[in-house]
Amino acid sequence: RNVVFSGIQPTGVPHLGNYLGALRQWKRLQDEAQLTGDKLLFSVVDLHAITMPQEAEALRIQRREMMAALLAIGLDPDKSTLFFQSSVPQHAELMWILSCTASMGYLGRMTQWKSKLQINNKQGDLSEDAMTKLKLGLFSYPVLQAADILVHRATHVPVGDDQRQHLEFARECATNFNATYKDILIAPETVTAPSPRVMSLTHPHNKMSKSTPNHRSRILITARAEEVRSRIAGAVTDSLNAVTYEPDLRPGVANLLELLSQCGHSGEWKEEASSPQQLADRYATAGATLKDLKADVVAAVWRELDGVRGRYLDFLNRKGGKWLDEIEAEGAEAARENAEKTMRRVRHAVGLGPRP
Ligand code: TYM
Repeated sequence: RNVVFSGIQPTGVPHLGNYLGALRQWKRLQDEAQLTGDKLLFSVVDLHAITMPQEAEALRIQRREMMAALLAIGLDPDKSTLFFQSSVPQHAELMWILSCTASMGYLGRMTQWKSKLQINNKQGDLSEDAMTKLKLGLFSYPVLQAADILVHRATHVPVGDDQRQHLEFARECATNFNATYKDILIAPETVTAPSPRVMSLTHPHNKMSKSTPNHRSRILITARAEEVRSRIAGAVTDSLNAVTYEPDLRPGVANLLELLSQCGHSGEWKEEASSPQQLADRYATAGATLKDLKADVVAAVWRELDGVRGRYLDFLNRKGGKWLDEIEAEGAEAARENAEKTMRRVRHAVGLGPRP
């Protein structure tokens, strides 16, 4: 039986990149699980969030918002185990044990870490000053991520393209542990979406991200119709008013075609699933303009998001917010039980825990 695990940071409401890159796959796997019998666990990874400074009350709110958003896209607590990472202390416990066989050299080569190094220090070397500013938790972030996955003995991890390297590292952690102690942990497979990377609407060379200050660069999944329209209308393209698919030369237009391809499309091509290239060819044949393309993208994105906002607000406020707390508490209990099974074996293999 396959076990699916994935996580998302508590950044409040997720954006279209999170949705198309990861969350929609979670929902698809949940639907398929009715036939396959797969076990599914999805976590709001609040321990990862504190690798960057957070305001306590804001973090508490954003965790709940993320949980409500996961439910709003159709994750069902009767089918998937949904929980906050910090509610399951086994994650942090396994992280420590994995830290003791994880390679510093490998961690130092992680793209995410290297980009933080560069922000703090142009040369990217570890001067005394840069060392002081950089935090250990940020460096060991991927070890916690590995623990998230391995503690549930996950076989499949659905994520966006930017998480590939972290998942390779998780496999490495499993291999290191198994070689050092006993063959207990499972090296998981990465499952990526057909559209692994959604780009920013204002800077289409960068991925759509929650951390960039410009709100116009992203669409939240709880956006209103009018907001979807104005964000797409304002999406950066270029001065050539024809539709072609050239990701390197015309990243803004390519991103719109990707969105259209992913979200299903309107008008006469509606029923056919099409690649961005096929879509571009049809627009070119029809002599259509960027404005036509944008109108179709608005309709397609809205078809995906229609209804999400209403469900989100309902789930967030049901029973004065208590309903959401109950859902999380139930999920956390199931997740603790699942993780504890692994930890009993891990502790024993390492020489910890009670005498058998
Ligand atoms: P996070 O919270 O940054 O993102 C959650 C998921 O959304 C995907 N994603 C994107 N996909 C396509 N285009 C984009 N522009 C885009 N932006 C984000 C991410 O790939 C991810 O799948 N470290 C992880 C969270 C994590 C995790 C885990 C994931 C912690 N433990 C264990 C899997 C398994 C992160 O920060 O994702």
